[in-house]
Amino acid sequence: MNAIIGTDPEEAARRLRLGQLVALPTETVYGLGANALDAAAVSRIFAAKNRPSFDPLILHQSSPDRILSYARHVPEAARRLAEACWPGPLTLVLDRIPAVPDLVTSGLDTVALRVPAHPLIREVLEAVDFPVAAPSANPFGFVSPVNATHVGEQLGDRIDYILDGGPCRVGVESTIVAFPEDRPTVLRKGGTTLERLQEILREPVAVQTHGSSRPAAPGMLTHHYSPGIKLHLVEQVERAGSSDHAVVRFGEPARNAHEFSLSDTGDLEEAAQRLFTILRFLAGGGYREATVPRVPDRGLGQAINDRLRRASQ
Ligand code: TXA
Ligand code: MG
Repeated sequence: MNAIIGTDPEEAARRLRLGQLVALPTETVYGLGANALDAAAVSRIFAAKNRPSFDPLILHQSSPDRILSYARHVPEAARRLAEACWPGPLTLVLDRIPAVPDLVTSGLDTVALRVPAHPLIREVLEAVDFPVAAPSANPFGFVSPVNATHVGEQLGDRIDYILDGGPCRVGVESTIVAFPEDRPTVLRKGGTTLERLQEILREPVAVQTHGSSRPAAPGMLTHHYSPGIKLHLVEQVERAGSSDHAVVRFGEPARNAHEFSLSDTGDLEEAAQRLFTILRFLAGGGYREATVPRVPDRGLGQAINDRLRRASQ
């Protein structure tokens, strides 16, 4: 671990201006940031994460006006979502302007845009005059980091500075919405619920998140969020955790040291916050396998079940 960990947004901004890699806290997960308009800096992101170049990045800026200036055309529905949800856990995929480097978008004609809510990354974004490209700060295919320690453990020797903003409030990545023929379509379920999108748009929203070898969002490969052990996703947990088989619970407390509860009380927001930390415990606890319950498929439960399904495949 060579990266410096600090809490100074000025220092993070200074390093980004120099073309360095900086891990940044957002309300969803930690991002691995670089100047999106500097192709050399962006290529360092792909190298550090071992990320294939066909998987495009999200651009971040501090206000809707600043970030939407990278879109060629903003459909009415996108404008409404931006107004209602930003800053917050929503990413909009829009037609891009030519100034966005091909490397960022993997050569696509669209670009993913987001205004994050964490106060520290917002200070960084206000201090720089470029958008910051930032995928989740984990090696490709692994669980996203939700605190600075997670980032340091997995990527500490490959990045220059980690801006420590404490644990992430939401805990799952942003919801991604694209607009093919101006029709809002969810590509990834995440921190903004489907119910909320429908309430804002007052129309049904299409969902197209199926993991496959040709996913809607290129990064939505089926094998993602790998905890590195066999994970059984079940409707109801009917065994006790043991030293080689961990158990995850929801709506009830853990009963021994090999059990982990997403939420004792069945609170989906708390479950989202704890999800990736628990997947890391499963990966690092010397277990051969683990049993995890599906959570109710509403609100943040949809994003949680999506991540559990991918982790169990
Ligand atoms: O919450 C988040 O979104 C976090 C924080 C750091 O902002 N970022 C994040 O980035 O999750 P990443 O790179 O791990 O996931 C971005 C997803 C990938 O699945 C990628 O394929 C998709 O966004 N994506 C990016 N640009 C796209 C585009 N133009 N069209 C479709 N999908 C796109
Ligand atoms: Mg990711």
